[in-house]
Amino acid sequence: MRVYRGLFAASVVLAVGACERTRGLTTSLIGCADEISTGVRPIATSRDRRFLGKVQASTARCRGGDKAAGRRDVSWVDWANYYATGDGSTKAFWPTRNWRGVNGALIDLEYERVELIRFNLFDNSGSFEDYVKGRGDVEGPALKTWTSMRLPPDHPSYSAVGGGGEQICQGALIRGRTLTGICNDIRNPLMGSTGTLFARNVEFETTFPDAGLTEITRNRHGGRLSLMTPDPQVISRKLFTRLQSDSAACADGYGKPGYAKDANCDYQKAPFFNVLAAFWIQFMTHDWFSHLEEGHNTAEYMKVGCAGDAARLGCRPADAMEKAYVADADAPARFTHNGREYLARAPKTFRNTNTAWWDGSQLYGYDERSRTRVKRDPRDPARLQLVPVPGDTAEGDRQGYLPLLQPSDPMNPDWAGQEATGFPDNWTIGMSFYHNVFAREHNQFVDEFRRVAAKAPEQDSGLRDPSNPERVIRYRDVTADELFEAARLVVSAEIAKIHTIEWTTQLLYDEPLFRGMNSNWSGLIAGNNGVADALAAVVNRLGKSSRAKTANQWYSILASGPGIIGLGSQKRGWSISNPDDVNGGVNHFGSPFNFPEEFVTVYRLHPLVPDLIEYREFGNPNAIRNKIPVVETFRGRATGFMHERGLANWALSMGRQRLGLLALQNHPRFLQNLKINRLKSPTQQLDVAALDLIRDRERGVPRFNEFRREYGLRQLAGFDDFINRTGTAEEQARQAKLAATLREVYGQHRCDSTKVITLAQVDTSGNPINDCLGHPNGSMVDNIEDLDTVVGWLAESTRPHGFAISETQFVVFILNASRRLYSDRFFTSSFRPEFYTALGVDWVNNNGPVAMYEARPVNGHTHQPVSPLKRVLLRTIPELKPELDQVVDAFDPWARDRGEYYSVAWKPRPGAESDEAFATPK
Ligand code: HEM
Repeated sequence: MRVYRGLFAASVVLAVGACERTRGLTTSLIGCADEISTGVRPIATSRDRRFLGKVQASTARCRGGDKAAGRRDVSWVDWANYYATGDGSTKAFWPTRNWRGVNGALIDLEYERVELIRFNLFDNSGSFEDYVKGRGDVEGPALKTWTSMRLPPDHPSYSAVGGGGEQICQGALIRGRTLTGICNDIRNPLMGSTGTLFARNVEFETTFPDAGLTEITRNRHGGRLSLMTPDPQVISRKLFTRLQSDSAACADGYGKPGYAKDANCDYQKAPFFNVLAAFWIQFMTHDWFSHLEEGHNTAEYMKVGCAGDAARLGCRPADAMEKAYVADADAPARFTHNGREYLARAPKTFRNTNTAWWDGSQLYGYDERSRTRVKRDPRDPARLQLVPVPGDTAEGDRQGYLPLLQPSDPMNPDWAGQEATGFPDNWTIGMSFYHNVFAREHNQFVDEFRRVAAKAPEQDSGLRDPSNPERVIRYRDVTADELFEAARLVVSAEIAKIHTIEWTTQLLYDEPLFRGMNSNWSGLIAGNNGVADALAAVVNRLGKSSRAKTANQWYSILASGPGIIGLGSQKRGWSISNPDDVNGGVNHFGSPFNFPEEFVTVYRLHPLVPDLIEYREFGNPNAIRNKIPVVETFRGRATGFMHERGLANWALSMGRQRLGLLALQNHPRFLQNLKINRLKSPTQQLDVAALDLIRDRERGVPRFNEFRREYGLRQLAGFDDFINRTGTAEEQARQAKLAATLREVYGQHRCDSTKVITLAQVDTSGNPINDCLGHPNGSMVDNIEDLDTVVGWLAESTRPHGFAISETQFVVFILNASRRLYSDRFFTSSFRPEFYTALGVDWVNNNGPVAMYEARPVNGHTHQPVSPLKRVLLRTIPELKPELDQVVDAFDPWARDRGEYYSVAWKPRPGAESDEAFATPK
């Protein structure tokens, strides 16, 4: 109730503060008055009463006028139609309306986050029963420690954390990010560490739909599903293949001999997002999770579809792939609570073979084996080893390049010839790029630290050793190992910051998300430190409550005030000797942190990658010199390309080129035909797009409609619901064709309205949802319930403005992107000089050694810091300065004119008119 009042108050302020004087009294203002009189909806107390991103008609009208009110009947969220949530054309004359639109959107998003925290946390590791029942006086969602997060007796650090007694990490184990990720939460040492289990965001009973675990699931899918049904390679060929206007010019992604620039592979392009952004997210996923061991799965093989006469579509029946690792497939335990029976975990579980923390583990390693591949500079072991490449003479090249894997290094034979690093799998020019850039950045920080130390050796570095907390560690005292670990903390936090406020704000290119992401990082009220500090103190107290509502809902809402970064780090009297200070800022919302399987699903972003890179050189950036197939840079060949052509030219090439839209029929050709040498199959080839579907099925991800219902989004009633009725006639015709193909592949059935198909939601009249999805009983309905989730979110053409992803993917991010900050003490209460050094904290806050600001406003925001990746590139590839001076967000195509307010037009900026990429509008 109190949370309800909180959001209610926010809404009333929004409506009242929005009063338009005199003649502006319109329907929209009447809507605002209605909103006040009827109040706002309470936070749902049961799953089937969720918000669904849909507001009352009066609220929609208040925040977006007739346009918003008129689009409430579609399945998609309402906030996308509010004032000022799109480009300049969505702004109203009255600033107050724009204010209501943007802030109304933020309120809707916060509703979603609060409900997601409440209804979508399902831990697989043994804590779920406590989550449901609570422990002692503490409600489940307010629990803070779990026995399943203790180190087991055979763990090398078992004794160090307290063995069989109370486990609490201390001393060397809490100084920085540990290799395997243990002791991030000092009272839950195992949490997020290498080899722990993936969680779920959906009820366990609804996972593994093809196993038909419950009557509801059987009703939903009618026995139509299995691992290979519908055939994944058929889906890939019909629904994923990029259509080509000239297949010879593309050659299945292999382009033309000599990398001739008249090669061409058509792909649907996102005008406001570049190829650097595509590889960035692959670079991130390599930090967060992996299901594979050293780049392979089990030794057992399975066929991967293309059955019957499907080969006529171009797929390969002889392809085969390794089966996925399974951690536990035994029948899960059951328990009852308040008369309802629950599964204690999903029917099968899987291990995250990486650390789940945002800790740069792709660069620094995540276990002893991967750490062997990480080379430190023998002359200064605080630095990473970077070596000169003969012939590379640009300014940044003096910083060097990563050394290569040696035969003595532990590795998958497929990786021979690549640069040495923690996570080397699926290496291409994109991975080579980021690993080299951030290795240089690591050394930039170390070098600056050394410079400061040389100038002021006696000065306090800020660093402390928890084993000897009173000892002041001067700059001169800092050891190479200590500096290496501090640099790792700094680089990891920089990466998290780039992702949160530079990558995501370009991925979701509109004002509400700009504000939302910046508030996640540094608070809605950045700059007003008095208010921020006071709110931070309140938030911390709330986080400690034993009541679920207080601990979680208020916490989530109020944390958007001061921001998540540094939560709990400014407490008066903060002490490294007090575990409650060191750990006090984290909040796991009652469920130990790890990524859910559903998160992996929405990161299967292979369509982002183009087949051919438009290669440029920085002396003449407007000219495309070559078209280099990404597949030619696969594995060790990336390294040769990097050394021959240099970081600066690759940065420019990938910075200027648009990435692929996440849409149907837009997967790279080369990934459908990827050659993988280790495979013991007749073809040694793989359709990675088809494998994406198979892996999700192996891991029991619910299909699209139930996935949406579980996450609190509205279901669709048939494939035609994917057609965006506000699009042009041409777009609608194209989407109608795709809907027909979906129907052809997934089929239809005669529906039976007596069959209830979900417990996650009820229909708009409050009745159970049945097999007919609102169609007449006995009619033929689309098998939309069977749609693979990846196919579904790729088919979503109705999206909020500037969204490179769909709303289904986005809802998964709202929950998990916040959680991976909230759960990590190095982003909250341990974001302190005692761990990062004073220089390190400043470096993260200022995006480098000193703060820098853009000369011009950015989408109306003045005094904008120069964005963090741009700063990293300026330091690590300084020869790019003339190009980067024109760039605001490193993930926006570098030669694009960004316009005034969230324009997504594909138009050259001054000086780039002759850039060949602008010759054709698409
Ligand atoms: C361009 C080069 C890329 C190649 C060659 C590649 C290749 C692959 C392969 C072979 C797999 C299957 C692993 C398995 O389950 O056996 C895979 C999985 C995956 N890929 Fe990619 N990929 C590329 C780019 C990307 C990009 C840009 C993303 C964006 C996020 C991405 C995200 C993923 C994810 C999330 C998985 C599932 C990983 C897991 O199950 O742990 N990949 N990729």
